[in-house]
Amino acid sequence: MIDVVLGLQWGDEGKGKIVDVLTPQYDVVARFQGGPNAGHSLEFNGQKHVLNTIPSGIFHQHTINVIGNGVVIDPITLKKEIEKVMASGVDPRKNLYISEKAHLIIPTHRLVDAASEAQKGEHKIGSTLRGISPTYQDKIGRSGLRIGDILTPNFKEKYQTAVANHKLLLDRFNHSYNLAEHEPAFFEAVEFLKQFKIISSEYFINKLINEGKKVLAEGAQGTLLDIDFGTYPFVTSSNTITGGVCSGLGVAPQKINKVYGIFKAYCTRVGSGPFPTELHDDTGEQLRKQGFEFGATTGRPRRTGWLDLPTLKYAIMLNGVTDLICTKSDVLSGFDVVPVCDAYDINGARVTEIPYNFNDAPIKPLFKEFKGWSEDLTGLRKFDELPSNFKAYMEYVEEQVGLKMSVISIGPDREQTIVR
Ligand code: GDP
Ligand code: IMO
Ligand code: MG
Repeated sequence: MIDVVLGLQWGDEGKGKIVDVLTPQYDVVARFQGGPNAGHSLEFNGQKHVLNTIPSGIFHQHTINVIGNGVVIDPITLKKEIEKVMASGVDPRKNLYISEKAHLIIPTHRLVDAASEAQKGEHKIGSTLRGISPTYQDKIGRSGLRIGDILTPNFKEKYQTAVANHKLLLDRFNHSYNLAEHEPAFFEAVEFLKQFKIISSEYFINKLINEGKKVLAEGAQGTLLDIDFGTYPFVTSSNTITGGVCSGLGVAPQKINKVYGIFKAYCTRVGSGPFPTELHDDTGEQLRKQGFEFGATTGRPRRTGWLDLPTLKYAIMLNGVTDLICTKSDVLSGFDVVPVCDAYDINGARVTEIPYNFNDAPIKPLFKEFKGWSEDLTGLRKFDELPSNFKAYMEYVEEQVGLKMSVISIGPDREQTIVR
């Protein structure tokens, strides 16, 4: 069987931390989509680690970690990540497996990403500039390069063909660039990756599942950034929802068991796009400060706002969430009131479903207010110890979404986790 962990908002819900906490219950952790646009933070023994492409089970040396076919890999960032993990005493050569079908991000993908964003001007997506969209475009356009290609004798030829296509695009964007600056590091990283286990991961994972091993699929980004159901075009270029697990790892839907859906006790978003409950005032600044809301990958300040139930319910529906996890609960201490958005007012109508014109509609969030609490939650370890005002807030969310919280996270460290 395979269980899934994924984000129910706009990313950065704390997936890395939760995967790290759950890993001891699994034999395998596998990423199924996204790439180095992700930044997953883990904290234990007083140390913080940020992973971009490597699954968050890597620090458990006996756990098999798989980068699935649905992922896009930048050899340069992956090499750097591996070296950092090695510096902390873990050797990914033993427990990291890479799908031969995962697509390669090459330096010109990053250049095209930057050129495309520059051309969009104020309408830019706010991409992480990691080359994600151009790489997935090439995959869908059937002209991509895959990890398996690095092992073929004509890899350089395939690479040059791709570069020639990208150069045409860059010329059209009138984008100046210096490719020679990036190529040596790229080819060095490609050589470096050859010492890893490059495999047919769909056979590998299915064999493990058939042997009764437990697999955890780790999502990147979040449901509201899904290419089909997110706030298009302000989304990423992959399916971030449970459905993405089947195509991103090659497992059949009936093999999927639990779906852990993670949400923050409030909302954040990096990059452009609609955000109905966004706060532009001191309260928003306080949320950013208390939650340390700065991107793990790009360092950009995250936009902040209150919890939004219509989008949360939408995400739970799309993913078939069975287990709900609330993170960053500790961040809400010290606010006089904690509002939660129940519905939207759109031109005088009360709306609870996400409308097609979500990006442009004059959406006013309708809030229900809860009395705040001032207790520090970070040292608590039992559900019963949580302040009654916090519980009232959580119970309302549970009642609204029709699911009980199975885990409440009250700090970035592994230990700061309340399992119900
Ligand atoms: P991911 O992309 O979903 O893995 O999340 P990120 O790592 O990008 O962002 C989550 C941030 O919040 C990281 O800095 C985590 O260390 C931190 N974090 C995770 N859970 C909690 C929590 O319960 N409380 C607090 N205060 N921080 C948390
Ligand atoms: P994790 O896995 C938050 C956002 C970008 C941008 C949009 C498109 O850490 O939760 P892309 O580079 O994918 O073309 O950018 O998606 N974005 C994320 N936001 N967390 C992430 O990953 C993100 N990955 C992409 O900010 O708005
Ligand atoms: Mg992140």
